[in-house]
Amino acid sequence: MRVLIVGNGGRESAIADKLMADSRPVELYFANGNATTEKLGKNLNLSGIKEIKEFALKEEIELTIIGPEAPLVDGIVESFQEAGLKIFGAKSRAAKLEGSKSFAKKFMQTHGVKTATAKVFDSYNEALDYLNGKNFPLVIKASGLAGGKGVVICDSKETAQATLHSFMIDRIYGDSGIQVVIEDYLIGFEASIIAFSNGKKLFPCIAVKDYKKVGNGDKGLNTGGMGSVAPSPEFTPEHFQDFEKNILTPTLNGLNEEHLGFTGFIFFGLMVTKDGTYLLEYNMRLGDPETQSLLPLLNNELLDVIEDCLEGKDIKLSFKDEKAVCLVMCSGGYPGTIQTGIEITGIEKVKHSKILFAGAQYSGDRLLTSGGRVVNLVATGNTYEEAREKVYKDAIPLNFDYAFYREDIAQF
Ligand code: AMP
Ligand code: GLY
Repeated sequence: MRVLIVGNGGRESAIADKLMADSRPVELYFANGNATTEKLGKNLNLSGIKEIKEFALKEEIELTIIGPEAPLVDGIVESFQEAGLKIFGAKSRAAKLEGSKSFAKKFMQTHGVKTATAKVFDSYNEALDYLNGKNFPLVIKASGLAGGKGVVICDSKETAQATLHSFMIDRIYGDSGIQVVIEDYLIGFEASIIAFSNGKKLFPCIAVKDYKKVGNGDKGLNTGGMGSVAPSPEFTPEHFQDFEKNILTPTLNGLNEEHLGFTGFIFFGLMVTKDGTYLLEYNMRLGDPETQSLLPLLNNELLDVIEDCLEGKDIKLSFKDEKAVCLVMCSGGYPGTIQTGIEITGIEKVKHSKILFAGAQYSGDRLLTSGGRVVNLVATGNTYEEAREKVYKDAIPLNFDYAFYREDIAQF
């Protein structure tokens, strides 16, 4: 089967790797891919929905899988479907659940999805007024997409005022900050659950733990994710029942009531508190780096479950009784300013883990960094410790100038 994968991160490398491990033969194409995908199929140089669709029509692509959120929000699914092309991903109306935090919050409130108390503001002055009498910390979120950076946890009223000014007046995230969500701060641990949708029902995977902060011990700035562990060691079967009752089921009912059904992925970003599990956010895609540790444990063939979902069939997901760890190696300076084009050496010395590149590209025979998160090392084992040892052993010979990674992934 000829499959096109849109995206160029570690997540897309993991999707491709899983498809290659499945028993059915696939011919893979990537818009635009990275150093891993180049070895698994053909990287293309395409930009924009129109060019990607023209390629899919011309080359008779039989299935397209979308990695990142932006093309979903921009309507790639509708565009492909109108052209009679098979595609797995949320339609733009549903992708608004990720693309607009105010839309998502209203959806959660309308359909009784358990979430932090929050209010949406279009007016800067009304938002400032709301701060009076609130307890701190308080969370301020730019409503639109901001590359994962538009959420600020404000410890004081002064920080909150400055954040509102930077979002709504200075527009540091452009139009994404015209509207803001101000939300009560929740204390607990986070977990990510990804579900497949067949248009009528949602089929959740096991919970995964993502490491969001740049520094050891969860210190420092938020990143796209510095590592992940599957299954989440903290998320118990009781938490899962709580999630199903208070988040998954009301979400499904809401999607059906609002005719937002789609065939694709939905990601639940959860906060587990002493008062139960709350939904922080929806993403309408696979998580990155959650996918890198989740897919190696999936027993089902990925192509089978995607095709079944596209045909509206029910699926039964099954996961290995093992642990998977993903360690992300980053460019110096990430998540701030980074340099690219730095040579990566030592891949032949990686013996115990799978290398899934993200921000890395070949230039001839030379392997060069091209982004903040450069490479994912992924390993499985019977215990977290066993999988953890493998990725950390392999991080030693893998080198590029200024590379760094967290030392405490999967350390419990
Ligand atoms: P979001 O994009 O809404 O998931 O927010 C990004 C990150 O900010 C989350 O992964 C949490 O670490 C943090 N966060 C968001 N909302 C809250 C909240 N209500 N309470 C505490 N932390 C939060
Ligand atoms: N790791 C969280 C995300 O993919 O948004």
